[in-house]
Amino acid sequence: MASSAQSKGKYETLLVTTEDKITKIILNRPDKKNAINLVMYGEIMRALEEAAKDDSTLTVITGRGDYYCSGNDLNNFAENLQEVLKNSGELLKNFVSHFIDFPKPLVAVVNGPAIGIAVTLLGLFDLVFASDKVVFQTPFSLLGQTPEGCSTYTFPKIMGPIKANEMLLFNKRMTANEARTQGLVTEVFADSTFQQEVWTRLKAYANLPRNSLALSKQLMRSVEKEKLHAVNSRECDQLVEICFSDECMNAITSFFQKKSKL
Ligand code: COA
Repeated sequence: MASSAQSKGKYETLLVTTEDKITKIILNRPDKKNAINLVMYGEIMRALEEAAKDDSTLTVITGRGDYYCSGNDLNNFAENLQEVLKNSGELLKNFVSHFIDFPKPLVAVVNGPAIGIAVTLLGLFDLVFASDKVVFQTPFSLLGQTPEGCSTYTFPKIMGPIKANEMLLFNKRMTANEARTQGLVTEVFADSTFQQEVWTRLKAYANLPRNSLALSKQLMRSVEKEKLHAVNSRECDQLVEICFSDECMNAITSFFQKKSKL
């Protein structure tokens, strides 16, 4: 039987279930393309902490609706900016640390487009499955920002600096198949059979010995855990600093102005 934390009113922005030895963390703001607001940052951390301790073998993050996730909710910047920015460096550092330190295999089931931090974090997952309809976007320089999620380290390592530059500096959109060729995605599935094929595969993986999987993942992660924490810290400090810049403020104001003119 599935246990559903959400049904007990535990989460406002997530659906969390455990079934077939898989804990599913479903981003649940489909009307906002699953943009991560401040509540969702906190809830994802809490869901990961609980998944780390539960009996499941695998933990999966996926999105409800047509998007996987449209990244940081730009409304996070809209109110009380100075206060938000002061706290957001620590919040973001803590958030990304939960992914660095997660002790079991962590899987992204990328059901739709992914933007910003939803893309950069993929370098910290153990498996990434994507529908062939997915596009990955990292518009940091368009927003006057700098990348996070340890991507300044993981992306050049995964795809080589030349391709990482295209994405992280020049906002190059990548299709699912390009991302697979570059090593960011494990496997791409036809959108029409995506859910069926992915969950069949994951259920089979979840029957493998739980401790063996967890310990093997921890061994691999331990090689560079310290480095990842240092990178995370530098990225967050830089991001907070640049968010006070005119370039960033103007880009975010312009996003909301464009919306209000529609
Ligand atoms: N932050 C805040 N709101 C967001 C959001 C985000 N990252 N992504 C989507 N939304 C909201 C939209 O503002 C809109 O809200 P509304 O219905 O109250 O007006 C709703 O989600 C639906 O999005 P909409 O823009 O109408 O859909 P679309 O299909 O035309 O475009 C996106 C979808 C994701 C391409 C577009 O919303 C977008 O560019 N969002 C910003 C993405 C971004 O820059 N993320 C940060 C990266 S660092």
